[in-house]
Amino acid sequence: MPFIEFNKSLLIAAISIGLNPLLWNIAARSEYNKKTLTNLANGNSLKACRALAATIFVGGIVRDLIFQNALRYQPGFDLFFNPFVQFVSKVLFYIGSLLVLSSMYKLGIVGTYLGDYFGFLLPTRVSGFPFNVTENPMYNGSTICFLSTALRYGKPAGLLLTLEVFLVYRLALMFEEPFTAKIYAARDQTQGKKSN
Ligand SMILES: *[C@@H]1O[C@H](CO)[C@@H](O)[C@H](O)[C@H]1NC(C)=O
Ligand SMILES: *[C@@H]1O[C@H](CO)[C@@H](O)[C@H](O)[C@H]1NC(C)=O
Repeated sequence: MPFIEFNKSLLIAAISIGLNPLLWNIAARSEYNKKTLTNLANGNSLKACRALAATIFVGGIVRDLIFQNALRYQPGFDLFFNPFVQFVSKVLFYIGSLLVLSSMYKLGIVGTYLGDYFGFLLPTRVSGFPFNVTENPMYNGSTICFLSTALRYGKPAGLLLTLEVFLVYRLALMFEEPFTAKIYAARDQTQGKKSN
């Protein structure tokens, strides 16, 4: 019996995992360069930002449901069903959720969902928990939640998709980090000019 069934639902899950950060990065860049979303919202940046936030949020939930659905059609792996692994899965779920929710709480909706591309910059770099335990609590927390779900369902295919989540977030960060750094550097430069 194979560990992973390469079927249609697995492919759809893989595509939705890949598409999520790709689409929102394209949308945010387009906003930054051409104010695309703000124009769609009749010039209201905050409204546009909130609409993107809601879209990303819902998109994330849809992706999670597609992921869980795909796991249903996958073979299980006996070892994963032992109480210890199931316990680890629960602990991972709490850790992952704590990281995601606490970083959302710290950043706020606008800060969590690419608000900086709309010109809503955070006044100072956010510090303290969870940012002092991991550099990207949002992405790392989300990855940990995927890992937890894969173990809870006892599906090796879930681990493969979790690896994809990890790599896709890595890739997203390669684009997002230099970009955010650039936006904040530009802000600091103009502020420096103002105070001089
Ligand atoms: C992280 O910051 C919190 C306060 O926000 C503090 O209680 C905690 O001890 C810090 N953890 C580490 C590992 O520095
Ligand atoms: C969190 O994510 C970053 C970026 O992907 C990565 O460098 C780091 O190793 C991850 N894990 C922890 C525990 O910070």
